[in-house]
Amino acid sequence: MEPRYEDALDLAARKLRRAIPLAAREPAIPYGSEGPRFTPPPYDGNSWWTAGFWPALMWQMYALGGDNAFLQEARRAQALLGEQLRRFTLLHHDVGFMYLLSDGADFKLTGDESARVDTLHAATLLMGRFNPAGFVRAWNGPDQAGVVIIDCMMNIPLLFWATRQTGDPRFARAACIHADTTLRAFIRPDGSACHIVELDPNTGARVREPGGQGYGPGSSWSRGQAWALYGFTLAAINAGSDAYREAAGRIARYFIQNIRPDGLTDCDFRQPPTPERIDNIAGAVAACGLIELARLTGEDDYAAAARRLLDGLIAHCCDPDPDHPGLLTRCTASYHDDRAGVHTNILYGDYFFVEALCKLKGTDPMLWT
Ligand code: GLY
Repeated sequence: MEPRYEDALDLAARKLRRAIPLAAREPAIPYGSEGPRFTPPPYDGNSWWTAGFWPALMWQMYALGGDNAFLQEARRAQALLGEQLRRFTLLHHDVGFMYLLSDGADFKLTGDESARVDTLHAATLLMGRFNPAGFVRAWNGPDQAGVVIIDCMMNIPLLFWATRQTGDPRFARAACIHADTTLRAFIRPDGSACHIVELDPNTGARVREPGGQGYGPGSSWSRGQAWALYGFTLAAINAGSDAYREAAGRIARYFIQNIRPDGLTDCDFRQPPTPERIDNIAGAVAACGLIELARLTGEDDYAAAARRLLDGLIAHCCDPDPDHPGLLTRCTASYHDDRAGVHTNILYGDYFFVEALCKLKGTDPMLWT
C-alpha cells in the first residue's frame, strides 16, 4: 500500500485506540465528534441507524492488528445494540447497517454464537418488512407503508447473509426482488438515483418521488448515489447478477463525472453553487464501492476514481490531531437538517474511509458479504 494510505490508516488506528476509554464513558454509542469530544446520536439514542458503525470500526481495527481492546469495545457497544433489538419499536430497515457490521462482524471474525443469533434476529426483523408487492419497507410511520429509500440497498446484504447462514432461499429472494424494484423505480437513465420513492403498498406501483436528504425532489443526493453504487455492487457480488453489475457500472460512471476537482464530494450533485455544502461520507462510501466494482469487473478506471476520492480526503479533510477521536471533517448528514451534522465529523464517514483503506491494505474482512 502506498505510504499516504498507510499513514492515514496508522492515524486512524492510533486515534481509535486512544478513543476507547472516551467512548466507554459516553451514555450512548458515539455518533460523531467535535474536537476532543464524542457527540451523541441526534435522534432515537442507540436505536439510531448509525449505532453499528462504532463497533464496526472496532472490528476493522481488530482485523488489522488483532488487538483485543478493540474486540472488547465492540462487544461493549453490541450489548447496547442487543437492548435495542429487544426494545424493537424504534428499529426499521436500517437493522442491516446496525447488526451486520457489529454482531455479524463479531461472528465472522470470532465465530461467537450469540453474535450470530442476534444477527439472525435482525435479519428476521428485516425480512418481516418485506412487502410481497416487491420491496422492503423503510420506515415505521402510519403513512409510510409504501416508502422505500435507496439506502436500503445497503441493508439487504443482511438478507443474503441470512440465506447463506440458514440455507433458506427466501431471504436472498426477497433481497433480489427489492433490488429489481429499486433498479426500476429509483435509477434514472443518466445513472443518478432518487433518494425516496413512495410505492403503492398494495400493488407496488410507483406513486411519487418526494425530496429526501438531498437538495430537493429531482436532485441527486450524493450519499444516495454512493449507497446505490456500493449497494448494487454488493448485490452483484451476493447474487452473482450481471444486471446488478451493469447497474453499478452506470451509477459509478455518473458518480465519477461529479467528483469535484479537489477530490471531495458535494452534498448534492444538483445543489446550487452557494452555500458550499460538502459530504465527505459520500466520497468514502463511493470509494469502497468503486474498489469492489474494480475487483468485480477488472476495470481499473473504478480503482483510479476510488484513489482520487481517498486522495482528496487525505489532502483536505483528515484531522491529524491525535486528541480528536474523529478523522474526517466536513461530513454532512443531510442537506436541510442541521441537527444531524453539517460540515463536521460523523463516525460512519470514518468507518467507510477506514474500510476503503483496509481494502487497499488487504485486511478488510468484507463484512457485507
Ligand atoms: N441511511 C440514512 C443516511 O444515509 O443518512
